[in-house]
Amino acid sequence: MAEPSLAVRRKSRPGSVSKRSRAPVQPSAVCSPVARKRMSSGGEGPPAETPVRGWRWRGAGRLLGLGIEVGRLRLGGWFGPRLSLRDVDRERPCFSEEDMFGDHDSFYGNDSLLAEVDDIEKKYLQDKNTNIKVAGEIIIGNQSGIHQEKKDNFSNSENMVVLKADKEDAFQMNENDPVDSNQELTESILDDLPSSQLLYFEKIGELSSGSRISPVSERRNKCVNFSLDKIRSPSFCPDTEHRNRPTDFSSESKCDLFKTESLKDHLKSAMTGNAKAQTLQVSKTKQLKEAVLSEEICVARKTIESSSVDIGPFYGLPSKVKDLFRQFRGIETLYEWQHDCLMLESLQQRKNLIYSLPTSGGKTLVAEIIILQELLCRQKDVLMILPYVAIVQEKFRGLSSFGIELGFLVEEYAGSKGRFPPIKRRIKKSLYIATIEKGHALVNSLIETERIYDLGLVVVDELHMLGEGSRGATLEITLAKILYTSKNTQIIGMSATLNNVGDLQKFLQAEYYTNNFRPVELKEYVKIRDSIYAVDSKTENGFTFSRLLNFKYSSNLEKADPDHIIALVTEVIPKYSCLIFCPTKKNCENVASMLCKYLKKEFRAHREKEKQDLIKNLENIGNGSVCPILKQTIPFGIAYHHSGLTNDERKSIEEAYSTGVLCLLACTATLAAGVNLPARRVILRAPYVANDFLKKNQYKQMIGRAGRAGIDSAGESILIVQEKDKHLVQDLVNSPLENCYSSLLLELTKGMQSLLLSLVGLKIAVTHEEVNNFMCSTLLGIQQQLLSKEKSLAEIIKDGLENLIEKGLLKGRICEKDHNSKCTLTITPLGKATYKGSIDLAYCNLLYRELKKGLEGLILESNLHLLYLVTPYDMTSNCSPDWMIYLKQFNQLSAAEQKVVDIVGVPESFITKKASGQAIRKNVDSAVVNRLYLSFVLYTLLKETNIWSVSEKFNMSRGYVQNLLNSAASFASCVLHFSEELEEFWVYKALLTELTKKLTYCVKTELIPLMEVAGVLEARAKQLYNAGYKTLAHLANANPETLVKMIEHLSRRQAKQIVSSAKMLLSEKAEALQEEVEELLKVPADIPGTC
Ligand SMILES: Nc1ncnc2c1ncn2[C@@H]1O[C@H](COP(=O)(O)OP(=O)(O)OP(=O)(O)O)[C@@H](O)[C@H]1O
Ligand SMILES: [Mg+2]
Repeated sequence: MAEPSLAVRRKSRPGSVSKRSRAPVQPSAVCSPVARKRMSSGGEGPPAETPVRGWRWRGAGRLLGLGIEVGRLRLGGWFGPRLSLRDVDRERPCFSEEDMFGDHDSFYGNDSLLAEVDDIEKKYLQDKNTNIKVAGEIIIGNQSGIHQEKKDNFSNSENMVVLKADKEDAFQMNENDPVDSNQELTESILDDLPSSQLLYFEKIGELSSGSRISPVSERRNKCVNFSLDKIRSPSFCPDTEHRNRPTDFSSESKCDLFKTESLKDHLKSAMTGNAKAQTLQVSKTKQLKEAVLSEEICVARKTIESSSVDIGPFYGLPSKVKDLFRQFRGIETLYEWQHDCLMLESLQQRKNLIYSLPTSGGKTLVAEIIILQELLCRQKDVLMILPYVAIVQEKFRGLSSFGIELGFLVEEYAGSKGRFPPIKRRIKKSLYIATIEKGHALVNSLIETERIYDLGLVVVDELHMLGEGSRGATLEITLAKILYTSKNTQIIGMSATLNNVGDLQKFLQAEYYTNNFRPVELKEYVKIRDSIYAVDSKTENGFTFSRLLNFKYSSNLEKADPDHIIALVTEVIPKYSCLIFCPTKKNCENVASMLCKYLKKEFRAHREKEKQDLIKNLENIGNGSVCPILKQTIPFGIAYHHSGLTNDERKSIEEAYSTGVLCLLACTATLAAGVNLPARRVILRAPYVANDFLKKNQYKQMIGRAGRAGIDSAGESILIVQEKDKHLVQDLVNSPLENCYSSLLLELTKGMQSLLLSLVGLKIAVTHEEVNNFMCSTLLGIQQQLLSKEKSLAEIIKDGLENLIEKGLLKGRICEKDHNSKCTLTITPLGKATYKGSIDLAYCNLLYRELKKGLEGLILESNLHLLYLVTPYDMTSNCSPDWMIYLKQFNQLSAAEQKVVDIVGVPESFITKKASGQAIRKNVDSAVVNRLYLSFVLYTLLKETNIWSVSEKFNMSRGYVQNLLNSAASFASCVLHFSEELEEFWVYKALLTELTKKLTYCVKTELIPLMEVAGVLEARAKQLYNAGYKTLAHLANANPETLVKMIEHLSRRQAKQIVSSAKMLLSEKAEALQEEVEELLKVPADIPGTC
């Protein structure tokens, strides 16, 4: 740390900071009227009637004597109120563009004027006896190209303590802050902490009760940084009308961020801006072009300046970043390991890194700091790969507020969301947060458009997923492609459950960091009959006796609860929280029901009103219906949680559990990985997941949910074991974690074959020899001797390529003997469509045939035929139709729709016979029959937009119906990309674009703009819509406090996240339009006759 912090300290001296960071301001300040507007806009000044204002007016008037046009500027900050054209006109009615500088070429020469201004400012500061605590100022276009908040004098001097930072100081984030600032920050921490953590703070009573928002932080919250970003961009270049309309700046007028900028600076930038201002006669195009040019200069400058990583006091980042971690995450100090890890030599040299720590070790924070370094200091895009859609959305919401504050874009790649290739941004860098599948498609698109070099960093959370089936194969393919095609892209992987790190290190060419740190101790126990044993690896059998479970059961109770779950949970709830992992969904529901049948009545009294509210909320979500089991269990503070719930329900239950309204969840492994929920005790109902014995990795992930830092101060796990499983469990707790093996071979069509196809398609490797070279660098290549004893890697590759040629996806020749053949392979249009649509190779030919058949007679009277085409193939095997429902649905179809049934190959007689239980001789493809049944479900869903009624109609769980809908939306976007690549399918483009959108949201059209915001699900969208928030812009400009007041069951944290996500999305959309404008206006370099 010594090296960076020294440099940091130099840069951060108050004087030098302002100079250094002010220097680059000018290009962006002078570049466009919008930038000037931003420079000149400021906070609320003293009231208009104050004498201060009087002399300021005179000061300003004197400046106006120099012919400075202030009409477009509101000289805010120190000299307060809006100075509009109207006001100026009153003071000095006549000045024109021609006499801008009077006799001066530039105001820079006029030192006496600036000195005078300085004096006035000093005098004002002395006069001011109110103790205003100033939020800071935004300096535009500083070295890192972000908005850097500069502290007021007081904070600045205090900051120096941190900036002196040797190792210790650097990771102490706030120790030396003044009391006032501490208080203010504590207050904002309370605003932004997850509610579960709030509860924790309340419990341990470390904070005083008087937490309310300070006026400064309140004002700061009001300040819409987003609008500042917005107006910087040339596409927001105000037209004449705008420029002359002072009220346009109303949102900025509330902003305090400019308060400390010196008057001199204001005037300088105001005058610079005016000097370069466009005259009203200049055409918009010209304005735009000039704005583009000056922005380009800005970028160039920033690029040069950002060559030094050490641009700030917080691990090379501006100190604002550490404030944001404090404000948004409640993190005051980095753990020692986090600091050590960030200071690793290998990281400084941008080497790839794998790091592994126990669950709840705080791995995410390190990754996020590295991500911010890449975005802000190195000015490169970043891809973050997370395992589940829900976790991607959660992360998107969490990091959007950082993006808004620090000026980068956050883009969601999950489900059917995400653009391929992503839009190339001119200035702002992008953080793509993606699921494994979308991450792969994104990397493919970047390689194809030769933009992979823009990707500076890839972060993979839960790296052990590499060994998990088809998703593991896709992750391996993605990482192998990045490693092969872009040597400059850094890869960071993290996990709590890695074993064969050596193989992974070889694969990723990475360094390794590990530590046993867990901030909250986790005690592991197993329960056999009524004895509890501590897991103790030092003893021979792995357990030591700890205690007897203290309980008195009646014979009835003994029958209902032979495993004494009630005794185990009542030791903890309702005071603390408890998670019970169950092997199946049904088991979750049974355990929850059983518990509340036998719990004492007193449990009902705990937070009764909030529990009633939760039931009401679930009723709203379910359009009047609530699951009867939940209705029965919630009054006791208990619920089940598994994939049979809708996303809306899951979210409400999770939120109620994090805030302590619910104290127990009986759940499946859906809550096992990466989630931060409170759990003093985690109980594993049995050592099974469905029928499979628990794996060590799964066990570790599940118990790791207990005792999360910042939420609980202790944690323990109890695994309930039957006598018969005792030895297996001994092996389980004593064995090492499972190794991570390549899944490329096991998942042939989604693994090996898919990789070979895209290698040729993307021209990463086009000869047999190149393919061989590439494959040696995969995890499979490293583990091939272990994984394939019968065949060599070369033979596997040869077989794979031949298979692709046979399928008509590749063209070329594979020599029998010579593996080093130079013969070039090419991809066929079908092959290209397959990899571009991320279609499983097992289905690509079938999909092609079905789309082709559709061209001959697609029935478009309703959605049914199209829906059939986008019903995911891989869901058909688990579907078993109810034949009576099948027949009923068939009978309700119109004649044209019944024709669809016939066209796809399901005869009416087949359905009728099945429904009446008759034998069937005719051979009908069951995959087609099932697929059609699922498309009936989708068809009804699109018509009724009510998951509850549809799940009842088809006798399916609502969670399954929702999952079907999400998978169909995702597959529809895949089919769309597939057909875009094949000329003959042009007609599908328009049809599938609309259908994908419908499936993605499946709500009334008016709710779609609101549901585009990450985390706003249908029920919330309805509430918002009914409250008058009807568009994305409404949400982006909403005041979170008002939202909390107007929307039922919305916490402050949720409201803030909704607003941040909406701002981010709006800003991203605006940028995209801007890019389009620029692309349109670009003058081609090769216009005939102009070279
Ligand atoms: N330096 C810190 N100070 C206080 N709390 C921290 C710190 N670092 C992380 N935390 C908190 O610790 C909790 C767990 O962190 P995190 O989610 O990063 O764990 P993890 O290592 O990723 O665990 P898992 O492997 O289970 O996903 C989070 O609530 C996080 O905010
Ligand atoms: Mg984690």
